[in-house]
Amino acid sequence: MAKACGKIILFGEHAVVYNMPGIALPILNYFTNVTSYKSELFTCCNDRVLYDFEKEKLNKLIEFIFKELKLDQKIHLHIESSLPISSGLGSSASLSIALIRELHNFYNLNLTKKQINKLAYKCEKIFHGTPSGIDNTVINYEQPVFFQDKTNFIKLNKPLDFVIASTGNRPDTKEIVQEVRKKYEENKNKYQNIIEDIGLIAMKAKKSLELGNLEKIGSLMNQNHELLKELGVSSAKLNLFCEICRQNGAYGAKLSGAGKGGNMIALVDGKTKEKIIEELSILSNNVFYTRVI
Ligand code: MEV
Repeated sequence: MAKACGKIILFGEHAVVYNMPGIALPILNYFTNVTSYKSELFTCCNDRVLYDFEKEKLNKLIEFIFKELKLDQKIHLHIESSLPISSGLGSSASLSIALIRELHNFYNLNLTKKQINKLAYKCEKIFHGTPSGIDNTVINYEQPVFFQDKTNFIKLNKPLDFVIASTGNRPDTKEIVQEVRKKYEENKNKYQNIIEDIGLIAMKAKKSLELGNLEKIGSLMNQNHELLKELGVSSAKLNLFCEICRQNGAYGAKLSGAGKGGNMIALVDGKTKEKIIEELSILSNNVFYTRVI
C-alpha cells in the first residue's frame, strides 16, 4: 500500500502560476491510499462516489501514468481517499502521487523522488491545465516548501497550528485559474501589480516562518487574503470565515488554494483554537485542526 498526504497553500496561490513564489505546507490529517493486487485483467475500484467528469479524469490519469511508465496493466488498484475533492487540499496531486508510489512499489521501479515529482506534475496538467507544480511538490516531499522556479524547503522555527474550514463549495481549479488568466490578459497593469504584491508577501513570509514570528505570519496571511479578494477569487463565505477567525483571536486567516469556495485556513494558538472551531462549526460541516511541524 502507498499513501500520499494533502496540502494547504499558506501564501502565494495564483501568483505562483505567474512565477511568483508560493509557500505550501503538507497536511497529514488526510491521505490518499492506493493498494494493488496481481490480476489478469486491469480493474480499479474507488471508495467514493464520483461525478462522471471526475471518473473520466481518473481513468485518463491512470491510463496516462501506465503509458508514461510503460507498464502492463495486470493489476487491480484499490483507491481510498479521505481528502475532500476540489477543496484546496490537494486531492488531485495526492491521488497522482499515491498512484505513482504504489506502481513504483508493485513493479519494482527505480524512480527517484524527483522523477516521481516530475511525473506527478504532468498528471496535474490533466486536472488543472497549467499548474504551477506547487501542489505535487509539497505532497511529494512532505515538507514546507518555498516554491518558485525551483524548490526550497523551509525550516519552521516553531510548529504552526491551523484551523481549516470548508465552505462546502467544490470549485474547479482549472476554471478559476483560467478566469484569472483572462482578467490578467485584459488588464495586465492592474493584475501584474496584485500578483507581484502577493509574491512580495510570500518572500516576507518565508523569513517570518524561519523566525517563528506568528503575529507577522498572521498579518501577512490577512494581507494575502485582501489581495486574493482583489484578484476576484474569494467568496462571501470565505470572507465571513476569515472575519470570524480574526474576531476570535486568530493571528490571521485567508482562503487557501484556488478559492471561490474550498477551504479557509486560520493560524491559531492553543487559547483561541477551541472557540474558533466552535464558531466555524455552526457554518461549516468540515472544520478541523492541524499542526504543521
Ligand atoms: C492550487 O492549489 C493553487 C493555484 O495557485 C494553482 C497552481 O498553483 O497550480 C491556484
